[in-house]
Amino acid sequence: MSLHLLPHPLGAHVLTHLRDQTTKPALFRTLSYQISLLLALEATRDLATTDKLIATPMESTTGRVLAKPLVIVPILRAGLGMLQPFHDIFPDVSVGYVGLERDHQTAVARSYYCKLPPLTAARVLVVDPMLATGGSAVQAIDIVKAAGGTEIIFVCIVASPEGVATLQKAHPEIPIHAGALDRELNQKKYILPGLGDFGDRLYGT
Ligand code: PRP
Ligand code: URA
Repeated sequence: MSLHLLPHPLGAHVLTHLRDQTTKPALFRTLSYQISLLLALEATRDLATTDKLIATPMESTTGRVLAKPLVIVPILRAGLGMLQPFHDIFPDVSVGYVGLERDHQTAVARSYYCKLPPLTAARVLVVDPMLATGGSAVQAIDIVKAAGGTEIIFVCIVASPEGVATLQKAHPEIPIHAGALDRELNQKKYILPGLGDFGDRLYGT
């Protein structure tokens, strides 16, 4: 049971501009890419590597290469804003999709789509920018576990204390990597200070 907050100062800088309500969707998407890249590096610091014998132009040597494939599972729709940097930097990535949408009145997430690759031998990174009540993250990880995922990490940009507690209660073994831990939820279950509705700001809806 562990919560890891992004240590790099660039993370705080990028997050401040993401939070700014004057930031328009095009810049918002760029900033989402940048902070997700930092989170991708932090969330994979402990990836296993294995020996690989190669020949440089000078001689033979043994290097290290990643031992396991990665599966990235963005929670639709806002999770798509975090996907690209994982794809860009890791050589062996497949992508699974879990579609969940919070009801505007109850804030309870409803599942509407699921397509997952084989999960058993992979490190699975479930990504969603906002961990608010934690309901969406818990449901997504339930689905990933039911599909055979065992080595799972949850990655978000902003977490609330309530969301962290709910996720840790439901899935205590799963590490959480977050860009920031905010103060609280409001009555409508939005994060404060937060950044508003991530999906709407990402896609200009
Ligand atoms: C947002 C966000 C998370 C969820 C977090 O998605 O992207 O998936 O809310 O809230 P929770 O922790 O209380 O479950 P939303 O349901 O608004 O759908 P969207 O991604 O399609 O905008
Ligand atoms: N979903 C969002 O996009 N923002 C919040 O603050 C909470 C849930």
